[in-house]
Amino acid sequence: MDWKTLQSSAREKFRGACRVCRVCNGVVCAGEVPGMGGIGSGASFQGNVAALAEYRLNLRTIHTVVQPKLGCRVLGLDLAMPVLGAAIGGIKLNMNVEEMTEADYDLAVVGGCRAAGTICMTGDGPMPEVFDSGLQALAAENGWGIPIIKPREPERIVELAKRAAAEGAPAFGMDIDAAAFFNMTRLGQPVSPKSLQELEYIKRNTEIPFIVKGIMTADEAALCREAGIDAIVVSNHGGRAFEFAPGTAEVLPHIAEAVKGKMTILADGGIRSGADVLKMLALGADAVLLGRALTVGAVGGGREGVQLVLAKLADELRTAMVLTGTASVQAVSENILW
Ligand SMILES: Cc1cc2nc3c(=O)[nH]c(=O)nc-3n(C[C@H](O)[C@H](O)[C@H](O)COP(=O)(O)O)c2cc1C
Repeated sequence: MDWKTLQSSAREKFRGACRVCRVCNGVVCAGEVPGMGGIGSGASFQGNVAALAEYRLNLRTIHTVVQPKLGCRVLGLDLAMPVLGAAIGGIKLNMNVEEMTEADYDLAVVGGCRAAGTICMTGDGPMPEVFDSGLQALAAENGWGIPIIKPREPERIVELAKRAAAEGAPAFGMDIDAAAFFNMTRLGQPVSPKSLQELEYIKRNTEIPFIVKGIMTADEAALCREAGIDAIVVSNHGGRAFEFAPGTAEVLPHIAEAVKGKMTILADGGIRSGADVLKMLALGADAVLLGRALTVGAVGGGREGVQLVLAKLADELRTAMVLTGTASVQAVSENILW
């Protein structure tokens, strides 16, 4: 399958829920939540893309970097590239895709990421099938997936994390920025912010690494570290949780200043190209998550589509590394930013 076919196939299957725009920036789909857009005016989604575009990279070609190394180790996992799949749940609710079930979607992203040498996170939502199908997909792939649990009651999170560990998941997470997803609370599955003590409780009662997704300030990154959290994701849920959040690329350097080297820093939001990946690494991320871009691959071409998206991104990352003189993911320096 080529790139054009993938995109037109995705466009057709989304039936307008995602227009598969040439630049995926949250403008056309502003306010489409449920849907694929950002909440309200779409400012937070758009801010992610704009913040990344603000940064540019120094073009340097007097050096010896010819074959940059994309491999990295994240949370003890060897990955072919510093890009993981983000958790995206709710295929029926958000994507309007009739051809795929939630389970088909999860199998495509989890299997596609694994085939590309990386790992995918899976989602959670008001309907139990969202979490369950993620777990089934990772079980089908030898446990190679990371479930992200909504900020439910701490005891419930521990219970779901244990189920994930029993299926072989190497880590689990909680998207704490979904703390005000009142649709879940209304459906009898309360979500809420968490205290430091509650974070510590979850950490203490689980055995696999614990990721907190949705950290946007340096002080909360430091609190996560205090609670013994293994990794954070600098994320605003792709602009779906809070209309007024800054772009993730804006806050990432401040967060990196506080906790870089002390815990794993992942980041997402608006990453559309290999150059975007490199910018996030230069701003302090150890690796990044790919959200909507991967969804377009999964809807347009299933597992193969996911692999195609990741292969394209890896090629672009390689190009950006050569043209900035960056030999490896470990050697990324902030000096590559103009
Ligand atoms: C339709 C949709 C559903 C999502 N569902 C989840 C979810 O269940 N759990 C979660 O942690 N994040 C969820 N996210 C957020 C993504 O994991 C990720 O943070 C975001 O998409 C990154 O931004 P990007 O799409 O611009 O790359 C969802 C995002 C979208 C667009």
